[in-house]
Amino acid sequence: MTHVRKAIFPVAGMGTRFLPATKSVPKEMLTLVDRPLIQYAVDEAREAGIEEFIFVSAAGKGALEDYFDTAAALEHQLAAKGKTDALAALERTRMPEGALTILRQAQPLGLGHAVRQAKRLIGNEPFAVLLPDDVIAGDTGALKQMVDAHAKVGGHMVATMDVPREATRSYGVLDVANEFGRLSHAKGMVEKPTPETAPSTKAVVGRYILCPSIFDRLDTLVPGAGGELQLTDAINADVEAAGVTGYRFAGERFDCGSVQGFVQATAAFALARAELGGDFAAFLASCVGQHSFAA
Ligand code: G1P
Repeated sequence: MTHVRKAIFPVAGMGTRFLPATKSVPKEMLTLVDRPLIQYAVDEAREAGIEEFIFVSAAGKGALEDYFDTAAALEHQLAAKGKTDALAALERTRMPEGALTILRQAQPLGLGHAVRQAKRLIGNEPFAVLLPDDVIAGDTGALKQMVDAHAKVGGHMVATMDVPREATRSYGVLDVANEFGRLSHAKGMVEKPTPETAPSTKAVVGRYILCPSIFDRLDTLVPGAGGELQLTDAINADVEAAGVTGYRFAGERFDCGSVQGFVQATAAFALARAELGGDFAAFLASCVGQHSFAA
């Protein structure tokens, strides 16, 4: 059994970069091949041993709630027709009784505010946060790697990735005290610094393991970068008291919060699927250099 049993999934964002699709479809329901983004995050959490799933949601996200509900009529029809493969595909969408809690973030005040919504449900134990926009492919899930490392080092832990200096303004960035293999011990964290002021190029990716002491920091948080209550600032405030470690995960991360990252992930996940890979690779190769559809 893992020492990290609960995970928060902030899913309240509007996904404006994907309009018009996200006018009526939650961005977490956008699909890579045949699985919505939220499914990738939930699967990764399950692999890491997570048993309780907390979605911090918002109005207009009903499809997300329905997705993890039973679909009695559909399941009945599939069973009656003997469609066992289709039924098996639904297996991933099942949650044990009471395992999923859905909260509403009343106002979009930032990631720190979203995480704070789950304070009562977390209690006094370490917990994970997964941002479904960040999809990470690899042999072992990034969160599982972090949980294993966290069992040894404790404190707050954030997933990290080295980025080009000009990209720091899109990320939380670690102020690194020292590095040891995949771990970097931080003496601070800054949200979206300019390339000129960034303390390093070690960027935070959307996986966190946090100690409950973070909630005291979240309670007293003031608006930071972009006028939002930033999780990064709360972690930074707890650096000395709790310790913060970056974990450079093995795997490839796709920024599915951007259209570019999303289409790249779509291609990469299709290529990785045994039943699609060969034909799809040949198709992609035939598209290279072609900028419009043939007449
Ligand atoms: C959030 C966090 C940021 C982190 C990023 C990873 O930013 O605030 O620290 O580096 O996720 O994807 P967002 O991309 O939501 O603006």
